[in-house]
Amino acid sequence: MRGIALLGRIRFLDTTLRDGEQTPGVSLDTEEKLAIARGLDALGVQVIEAGSAMTSVGERQSIKAVSAAGLNAEICSYVRALTADVDTALACDVDSVHLVVPVSDLHIECKLKSDRKSVIRKAVEVTEYAKDHGLIVELSGEDASRADQDYLAGLYLAGIDAGADRLAFCDTVGVLVPEVATEVFGRLSRLGAPISVHCHNDFGMATANTIAALRAGAAQAHVTVNGIGERAGNTSLEEVVMTLESLYKIDTGIKCQDIYQLSRLVSRMTGLPLATNKAIVGENAFTHEAGIHVHGLLADTKTYEPIHPETVGRKRRIVLGKHAGKASVELALREFGIGVSDEQLSQIVTRVKELGDKGKRVSDADLQTIADTVLSIQKEPKVKLQELTVVAGNTVTPTASVKIQLNGSDRLEAGVGVGPVDAAINAIRRAISGVADVRLEEYHVDAITGGTNALVEVWVTMAMADRKITARGADADIIIASVEAVLEGINRLMRLEEEDRLNV
Ligand code: KIV
Ligand code: ZN
Repeated sequence: MRGIALLGRIRFLDTTLRDGEQTPGVSLDTEEKLAIARGLDALGVQVIEAGSAMTSVGERQSIKAVSAAGLNAEICSYVRALTADVDTALACDVDSVHLVVPVSDLHIECKLKSDRKSVIRKAVEVTEYAKDHGLIVELSGEDASRADQDYLAGLYLAGIDAGADRLAFCDTVGVLVPEVATEVFGRLSRLGAPISVHCHNDFGMATANTIAALRAGAAQAHVTVNGIGERAGNTSLEEVVMTLESLYKIDTGIKCQDIYQLSRLVSRMTGLPLATNKAIVGENAFTHEAGIHVHGLLADTKTYEPIHPETVGRKRRIVLGKHAGKASVELALREFGIGVSDEQLSQIVTRVKELGDKGKRVSDADLQTIADTVLSIQKEPKVKLQELTVVAGNTVTPTASVKIQLNGSDRLEAGVGVGPVDAAINAIRRAISGVADVRLEEYHVDAITGGTNALVEVWVTMAMADRKITARGADADIIIASVEAVLEGINRLMRLEEEDRLNV
């Protein structure tokens, strides 16, 4: 497709557990780091930067646990040019160190209060020390994109002489542009050791710069899952992998079909939600609303999708709103096993558009309610809320008790949770256990109006076996809105399951 300068296999150093964890507010415990490291290993990345060993006792425990997990990937710790840092990394049984020295005058003078010669001296000394202790060394220049490039090349050459196995060029504040990346990496890739590209996304160009560097000869890309990292984040693993695979037809060796699952895991464990329009892994990346698009998709999915969602472990979603057309509504109804005449379809489309015109996205549960109305089907809810009590405060464990009517009989249950909403949802799930095994997969709140008395709209994605549906609830009280959405979802899922059973 395009002139491809790439030779040999590109390697990935994933730094989700180090640079990604530097995202403000994120702190991963050992179990979480292990789970993510296992996911990265299964995905096929070559190097996992598991953390910075000198950071804390907990960090060392986590790095040690990742090193001991028997993964195929090389396990790496970030270190400064200090032999004490290397000792700490060695105590965590890592395979390699990412040895970072500042290389721009700004960083050398303002941050390190040092000078160019001393930085090279320390880099050489600590590289030799790490090599003498059996470590693989990746010698990295921090703020390399703002450094004097002749000085940088001199530092790298001194590092290679001292035994560095790999080099890394950090675009620490994301100021690189692709043309410069092409020129710089064309030169640096000929120094005599494989070079990595490490980009930040301050101007939204981390992926473009990384691809340009790889095309110019960089051997390894530093990436994070979902592009998490300080400020605007790091280069996103999924964007680079899928650009190489789909646009440059390069086999990266990464198990692309596992990308989405790992993205969800990282989002959950870091508590960092994804922008809905995030490339590849965002909620809307394979979601379609506009009627004309869905019409095209029905003819051939390539019309409005650059790759099949299944390639990255996802499913296509059709959402309904004011842009919906007959094709998209019919498709959505078909997915719920609802057959309609042409006349009924027109009526349903009109009602969907009416809701859309009010600024509403139409949930799966909304669509089914509209269809029930148009088809004049009277359906009693299977689960009805009768009473809900929630206790929360700064000195009590959030606790909820619910009384529901399930298939006509009363059930009383209690649940605790991390907050009152969680407690209420847990109480409902306990109350229906044994009858319906329902999972809450996504939960999202929007304030419809401003202020503390805002009307909130809660969106949930609920799943039962392998069926998923969306539902929503709206109320001035977030707990009531959440319970309404969850009950709506449960009722719809139970009804669909019953219909499946009756149709068998
Ligand atoms: O972006 C950066 O400069 C870094 C280094 C500290 C390795 O993450
Ligand atoms: Zn970084």
